[in-house]
Amino acid sequence: MTSQTNRIAPNAQALAELVAPPASSLMSRPEFVWGVATASYQIEGAIAEDGRVPSIWDTFSAKPGKVLHGDTGEHACDHYHRWSEDVDLIESLGVDAYRLSIAWPRVMHADGTPNRKGLDFYKKLLTRLAEKGIQRFVTLYHWDLPQYLEDRGGWLNRDTAYRFAEYADLVSRELQGLVTGWATLNEPWCSAYLGYGNGHHAPGLANTRWATQALHHLLLGHGLALPLLRANDPVARCGIVANVGRGTTDGTTEADRIAAQRYEVQHNDWILQPLLKGSYPEELFKLWPGTEPLVLDGDMEIISRPMDFLGINYYFRSNLRSDGGTGFVDVPLKDVERTQMGWEVYPQGLEDLLRRFKSQYDRLPPIYITENGMASDDAVVNGEVVDEQRMRFMKSHFAAVARAIDAGVDVRGYFAWSLMDNFEWAFGYERRFGITHVDYDTQVRTLKQSGRALQAFLALRRGS
Ligand code: FCB
Repeated sequence: MTSQTNRIAPNAQALAELVAPPASSLMSRPEFVWGVATASYQIEGAIAEDGRVPSIWDTFSAKPGKVLHGDTGEHACDHYHRWSEDVDLIESLGVDAYRLSIAWPRVMHADGTPNRKGLDFYKKLLTRLAEKGIQRFVTLYHWDLPQYLEDRGGWLNRDTAYRFAEYADLVSRELQGLVTGWATLNEPWCSAYLGYGNGHHAPGLANTRWATQALHHLLLGHGLALPLLRANDPVARCGIVANVGRGTTDGTTEADRIAAQRYEVQHNDWILQPLLKGSYPEELFKLWPGTEPLVLDGDMEIISRPMDFLGINYYFRSNLRSDGGTGFVDVPLKDVERTQMGWEVYPQGLEDLLRRFKSQYDRLPPIYITENGMASDDAVVNGEVVDEQRMRFMKSHFAAVARAIDAGVDVRGYFAWSLMDNFEWAFGYERRFGITHVDYDTQVRTLKQSGRALQAFLALRRGS
């Protein structure tokens, strides 16, 4: 390291080491983007303020039995009111970038006209971040569909794709110049499959055929929005965020091997292939016979329009075996490390997937890891949160990204999920993903040790 390092107190260096990626890695260079991420419904609260209309998550979480402990996003982290101190928190971390999402129900009335108060909230937030030199990665749709659109069929209705494009047009005209990168959708797999395929998420419908149709309309909305974003905000980069999953098998038969492959097709290629090759994978319809979506002429060209970046969200690996038919069953491995979610800690899966996508997709754009992180049952003890497992998780996943970069994958940045504990969808507030602890009674934020370690690493990288 350079002489600048000497300015860092030794304990800060030791703290940084708890998470730091390999020193030789490109991730230590200034151009690599380090960030933290959140999403509107998970942090904002203020669901009935300043003209916000209800979203599908308000409706879904109000139904008994849908969300653990009956939690809802009504108050969440009260970020709508505390945004200014939250920006100070982000700044204090020393990150280069912040990834947030816009709540569609906050910025547009049901008749399609702008809701000024909602737009003003994001304008002042983005302006403040820009003033502080923090890059802004903005996701347009992180699952909070206005309920009035769900009442007309939601993502099962092709018209919703056009309404999404209108929304993207409005927001990018209004926020033009304030955004570094626009992502159209967050994890369309989850919106389609968890929302319409198995009903675990809002709007809570369960039919595989609906999931493939919903996904098609989501991707169509993405493709329709791209040229509008580019026209309205030519300087910003445009892309999408996809969750990806690693599937392997401990089974010994050919059927088990195929089962693991099909898991990856279902989790990854169902989304990536239409975006990057303009077609749906045939294997998907071997897994789910008869579920082909209705695709109109020209749709696949719209869906596969070029993007400037692909956001990848990675959390865990699954162990699959054949279900005896065309599908797979998840057979959890024993004796592996797991998180509060029960998800296996498996950093190698991130490297494997990044390498596979590079070899499989000629048109793979530059990648940002837009989410990665873990939940633990964190508590403040004597003013401190010692989240040792999270620090190991971060360090091992940083190392996996570094290996993928060394293997030639163009990864430009990494965003930790999440800036702070928040409303973890169907799991409510019990599952804590933050590098900052939130006390939901007092709304006090306490930077966890993982957050302090990231802060120390970033300070060291800057040489300050
Ligand atoms: C992802 C979501 C994000 C968060 C993490 C844990 O699927 O995009 O909002 O809930 O999982």
